[in-house]
Amino acid sequence: MAPMTPAEAQPRVAELRASVARHDELYYRKAAPEISDLDYDRLKRELADLEQAFPELIAPGSPTASVGDDRAEGFQTYRHRERMMSLDNTYSEAELREFHARLVRLLGREDLAYVVEPKIDGLAVSITYEQGRFVRAVTRGNGVEGDDITANALTLRTLPRVLKKSNGVPLPDLIEIRGEIFLTLEEFERINREREEAGEPAFANPRSLAAGTIKQLDAAEVARRKLEIVLYGCGHAEPREALPATHGEFLSRLKEWGVPTAERFWTAHGVDEAWAAVQALDRVRAALPYATDGAVVKLDSLAQQREAGATSKAPRWAIAFKFAAERAETRLRAVTIQVGRTGVLTPVAELEPVLLAGTTVARATLHNQDEIARKDIRVGDLVFVEKAGEVIPAVVSVDLARRPPECVPYVFPEKCPACGTPVVRLEGEVAFRCPNYECPVQVRRRVQHFASKACVDIEGLGEAMVEALAGQGWVKSIADLYRLRRDDLLTLGKSVEKSTDNLLAAIETSKGAELWRFIHGLGIPHVGVAAAKDVARRFAGLEALAAAKYEDFIGENKISKIEGIGGTMAAAIIGHFNAPRQRALVEELLALGVRPVAPAAGVAPGTALAGKTFVLTGTLPTLTREEAAARIEAAGGKVSASVSKKTTYVLAGADAGSKLDKARTLNVSVIDEAELRRLLGGT
Ligand code: IVH
Repeated sequence: MAPMTPAEAQPRVAELRASVARHDELYYRKAAPEISDLDYDRLKRELADLEQAFPELIAPGSPTASVGDDRAEGFQTYRHRERMMSLDNTYSEAELREFHARLVRLLGREDLAYVVEPKIDGLAVSITYEQGRFVRAVTRGNGVEGDDITANALTLRTLPRVLKKSNGVPLPDLIEIRGEIFLTLEEFERINREREEAGEPAFANPRSLAAGTIKQLDAAEVARRKLEIVLYGCGHAEPREALPATHGEFLSRLKEWGVPTAERFWTAHGVDEAWAAVQALDRVRAALPYATDGAVVKLDSLAQQREAGATSKAPRWAIAFKFAAERAETRLRAVTIQVGRTGVLTPVAELEPVLLAGTTVARATLHNQDEIARKDIRVGDLVFVEKAGEVIPAVVSVDLARRPPECVPYVFPEKCPACGTPVVRLEGEVAFRCPNYECPVQVRRRVQHFASKACVDIEGLGEAMVEALAGQGWVKSIADLYRLRRDDLLTLGKSVEKSTDNLLAAIETSKGAELWRFIHGLGIPHVGVAAAKDVARRFAGLEALAAAKYEDFIGENKISKIEGIGGTMAAAIIGHFNAPRQRALVEELLALGVRPVAPAAGVAPGTALAGKTFVLTGTLPTLTREEAAARIEAAGGKVSASVSKKTTYVLAGADAGSKLDKARTLNVSVIDEAELRRLLGGT
């Protein structure tokens, strides 16, 4: 090919810049990428290559010179004390060797040691500790300043509020510890299943979901999704001498402080060992709880790191080796439609079986109609299947060059494949739904869910049994389970007398199952097991919950009265029980003798703190004072402004003032937030 002239390269550079900027926006701000990381890196690399060939085309603000920007509306921005950078990527052994050769030239020595660690596919974050105490969490943002996500970071169970002292080594006065917030693959799948059931678009990968979660404004909603964190680096530190000499020692120090770190890292002498470590990581990474999209190779000596320095966006002392996503090509035989418990219709790709990353893949979710249209997936196409986050197979694209001429665009069915009812698409939803509440598949799925282990747990009532009961027309709702007749069941033939009696006994026992099991079993949108438990702790029974008002959940200033239950969930619960059909179901269940057992907290709702007066002072680790006050009042307690002999407890946080002194003088009990949570009946 003849070499390009700058004039010829210019339009392509402009096109690439616009394209990269658009994908940056989708990835960092919207957490909804449209292309794979590999395709994105290709665009960016082509742009970087052109800019290198034609330096006259380099423009300020080109995406090749920046780290993207994740800042979102509604957060305070905070300036990092030391810039947060990105990493340069490599895809081959040769490129890794070039990286090493560059450092050898730069530092003038051959004997370079490296640390090789997993590249976690999450969201970069900087955590500041002052005098060993957690003070702030900030996202990378544009590298210079990011969003203050302290409130949300406090929902991270494994992030220490106070660093443990390590043997004889003083803690730094101030340190920014860098790391990655992520979701485990298990949690990612759980949330996506829930979203699909609720008609909401599924997230493409754990990273997007983690990013979308940490940028929620309601910390209670964030707490619902179990975010995790791993820390692996250091930003600003005072005094610098408080840091060890090598990165490997720094990682060990983090562990001693009680900070979560990656479970494995390798120390390598020279590039051969580094390459061997990258391959070793590739072999074990499937067993890691998070998605890893590569290995990060870092110079071990912190002094050498400083000497090597950085370019405008990435350090010269580290590089990311990206593992190729496993991808296979196969034929799309058909698209089938799955009907969910809530009527959501999910298209599923029926594939010619193909081996992918060690397992045979024959089906893959297509998520929804928009996804099919965007990728223009047609029955008969050769499609590329990838394992997103290494576990879930997904159809990523179509081999357009090899499309059979007879392929026609996919048309989503207009009627529910189970009951023939015309499908609908609710406003703001991506999913089509079957609106027929009596749709036989929905009925079966609802009953199955209700009877499952995670709900009221009726032994002997699995998928096949529900199918049989529904097929006979005996079970059209959850309530019908409590109307089953022994004589009818015996006519089923396949169940002998003993198993019929066992089933009837299990159904009878379920009438007294714990309240949270019923709440979860009713299938209220957004309400999973954890939320059902939180709600159950605060209501005497099903009847009381069905009669609850929004104000029972959310107080003035939109402050949540029940830990973990935010506005979205409260609205979903109220909306559910306001529907005449659901009210009728609750009444039916009660009439049939269903009496869920409220948790044995030993106190009636709203009375745990009756007669007790609290005074609040100082900054609490996770609750604002308004939130703490709302919870105390919701539990029947009183909050007063000043300490007197009548005060039962002074709830004290950091930097508590004169009220604390007064409490001590008057011998009033002083408690912290953890103790308050215990009093409220939590953990
Ligand atoms: S070190 C100045 N180590 O990958 C060097 N980054 O694609 C900063 N990442 O911005 C990065 N795992 O968000 C480092 N073990 C690891 C990492 C890691 C994931 C992220 C980080 C970085 C991005 C670059």
